[in-house]
Amino acid sequence: MSTLATIPKTDANTPVLIAKDLKQVYHISRGMFRPAAQLQAVGGVSFQVQRGQTLAVVGESGCGKSTLARMVSLIEKPTEGSLMLGGVDAVQASGEQMRALRRTVQMVFQNPYGSLNPRQKIGQVLETPLTINTPFDAAERASRARDMLARVGLRPEHYSRYPHMFSGGQRQRIAIARALMLNPSVVVADEPVSALDVSIQAQVLNLLADLQHEFGLAYLFISHDLGVVRHIAHDVLVMYLGHAVEQGDKKSVFAKPLHPYTQALLASTPGIAGQGVARQRIVLKGELPSPLNPPKGCVFSTRCPYVTERCRVERPVLRPLDGRLVACHEAERVADGVALPATAAAAVTA
Ligand SMILES: Nc1ncnc2c1ncn2[C@@H]1O[C@H](COP(=O)(O)OP(=O)(O)OP(=O)(O)O)[C@@H](O)[C@H]1O
Ligand SMILES: [Mg+2]
Repeated sequence: MSTLATIPKTDANTPVLIAKDLKQVYHISRGMFRPAAQLQAVGGVSFQVQRGQTLAVVGESGCGKSTLARMVSLIEKPTEGSLMLGGVDAVQASGEQMRALRRTVQMVFQNPYGSLNPRQKIGQVLETPLTINTPFDAAERASRARDMLARVGLRPEHYSRYPHMFSGGQRQRIAIARALMLNPSVVVADEPVSALDVSIQAQVLNLLADLQHEFGLAYLFISHDLGVVRHIAHDVLVMYLGHAVEQGDKKSVFAKPLHPYTQALLASTPGIAGQGVARQRIVLKGELPSPLNPPKGCVFSTRCPYVTERCRVERPVLRPLDGRLVACHEAERVADGVALPATAAAAVTA
């Protein structure tokens, strides 16, 4: 689609997506007579994604995954930080440059039922991005829509059908096809298989992997499910309460998690726990703190079995250890599986 290539594709060695210190603060109204509360949904997250690679973002509900996804897909402007897409600064961009950037990053949402207009036939769903963004005539648009239908495993006759005539997995294939119509470099997928039956999930994940291979797509893949992440990710970023607590390549994070929160997530995932990844089974105790009132020191300190006094007052920054980044004062102790302090015994089972 050379007519759309207003943003150059980066060469193989330059990350197609570079996020630095992305922050998002929401102002929550508390009525007429009180000042708005500040909720920091994402508190300074940095990462890079290369062409053809997948960065998975994992963490519990409310940790800021979708907020991060909305910033990267240019739906929301970050409160602070920078975002480079194909070498172009997306935070500073405006006008025609912003419209071009919006074409290069596309999103696939969790809910394949809600994200398709029930009154549009599938052909029209797929052609709308072309109608808005390209000079292609009706015949060219239809031909590209039919090609894309085939590419995502649907049939030519599906072109004239409405969304309600499809299964959940098929609708997600349609949403993926729509996302690819403008030949993007980056696809942000926010829990794209969470609403699907487990038997269908693998098919959609395999399709995403094939398309990545074919088109060199960079994925930012949001998921709370480490079983899914293990399938699809090259790199992993673990979030807790708006912060990255551990990030690095998937193999090392899964083989030897360095942050107690990553250990707990892995230990609670069926099929992954018990493979030697987490020798100690950490069960998260207590509630996730409110992002309106986060802990002063380490964000994980209120639930961490390794917590020390230092952790309660001094927030750890991400630091390199064992070939990745970890934000934990005690990471060496965590990594070595040094016995947990007696005070934490209640939180830990053998
Ligand atoms: N538009 C908004 N206005 C105010 N607060 C928001 C807004 N969007 C998100 N939040 C808050 O920001 C925090 C992060 O939310 P976010 O939706 O990014 O989390 P998430 O990790 O995607 O969760 P889930 O797994 O449930 O989808 C939450 O505390 C949420 O309530
Ligand atoms: Mg979300």
